[in-house]
Amino acid sequence: MADKLDILIESNRTWAEAISRKDPYFFSKLSNQQSPQYLWIGCSDSRVPANQIVDLLPGELFVHRNVANIVLHTDLNCQSVLQYAVEVLKVRHIIVCGHYGCGGVAAAMQNREYGLIDYWLRNIRDIYYRHSADFEHITDDEQRVNLLCELNVLQQLANTCHTNIVQAAWIKGRELTVHGWIYSIKDGLLKDLGASIDGMDQIPNEYRIESPD
Ligand code: CO
Repeated sequence: MADKLDILIESNRTWAEAISRKDPYFFSKLSNQQSPQYLWIGCSDSRVPANQIVDLLPGELFVHRNVANIVLHTDLNCQSVLQYAVEVLKVRHIIVCGHYGCGGVAAAMQNREYGLIDYWLRNIRDIYYRHSADFEHITDDEQRVNLLCELNVLQQLANTCHTNIVQAAWIKGRELTVHGWIYSIKDGLLKDLGASIDGMDQIPNEYRIESPD
């Protein structure tokens, strides 16, 4: 079985050699530190590879991915990534990036049972229910899924801003912008949903944390 993966190890060597040919010190520089300016929160979907989409090299993008790019306040993994990125790496931008045709989002719109993942996708089902009026006149299934993909990004963008991690950075006067983007698998293009948030004044009062520290 193991020999079948040899091709991946070989590809890795070719890749590392190509980078070292361009910049002989690339890896030795990176081994000393990382100072990415961006945190990417995206979907685990294999067709949405964070670094490649935005053409960034190792060291330039801090990445967290899960099914359907969900930011949950009880998810220790996502919150730890967020805390480390904001407080230690001091990223300037957080990009919450969804994608059209997301299988996780589509599954959350169905009444079928998928198992454990239903608990995770329940967060998206709640968004679907809250916005059910927006779906009333859309009959095309693809359009319905894509609308919920966008609404999901906006909700996860809000969830990111509602954390004490992001709010503490703003209170300290740090420049930090949280963006909502969506990616199209069909043409490889990103779209900014135009909903970026960069300060406490854009947060509903109910979600403001007065003394996050
Ligand atoms: Co997806």
